[in-house]
Amino acid sequence: MKIAIMGAMLEEIEPFLTHSAHEPLLANFRKTSKLRYGGNTYHEGKYKDLDIVLAYSKIGKVNATLTAATLLEKFGADMLLFTGVAGAVNSALSIGDLVAATALCQHDLDISIFGHPHGFVPEGAVYVKPATQLLALADRVAKAKGVALRHGIIATGDQFIASSERKAWVAQTFQADAIEMEGAAVAVVCDALEVPFFILRAISDAADMEAQFDFDAFLKESAKISSSFVIAMLEEL
Ligand code: ADE
Repeated sequence: MKIAIMGAMLEEIEPFLTHSAHEPLLANFRKTSKLRYGGNTYHEGKYKDLDIVLAYSKIGKVNATLTAATLLEKFGADMLLFTGVAGAVNSALSIGDLVAATALCQHDLDISIFGHPHGFVPEGAVYVKPATQLLALADRVAKAKGVALRHGIIATGDQFIASSERKAWVAQTFQADAIEMEGAAVAVVCDALEVPFFILRAISDAADMEAQFDFDAFLKESAKISSSFVIAMLEEL
């Protein structure tokens, strides 16, 4: 079993690394190796008896697509766990809350002029769903650890959202709970290649006028909340 762990930003996978950003080494993994490929660094190692490949993609759907496809096709991962931060769209979510995606969509994919729903292109689907068994595993881990894990719809697009109007539109159009810039791209890749995946985000901001300041203030803290939960899931795999 080879497990891909992916984030979009270095800060999102940094908790898995021992040293500073300049000398990344896998903390809890044996037989560390590191490979540069396609403009990204892939860390391979073992966590207990699990083979792990770990990478961050850089921000955005195109970068996320490249990295997800590389993790599956070049590194042969059989499962992908995504960890990172998101903006809250649902007002019931606060900074630091954990959201496991039950479905992901692309809020900026728009051929609605041809009569299609927002987020839809022919031969695709508006929503792509993660593996139910990984959601169930996450629920068990959350219960055992006494951690509040919410389920929600995650909307992905190539914009950092810092606008109450756009946020309201995304909430209304997609019934979204959280917003970020990579999840649906990863979901489309994994779904197409039939690899089970799980997308976890901890809230860093409310995608409103304060979002850029909150994001900077809470990125590291929220990234750590998410990555710690993924480590707890690895314990149970
Ligand atoms: N990731 C974290 N916060 C975000 C926001 N407000 N918009 C897009 N992606 C995000």
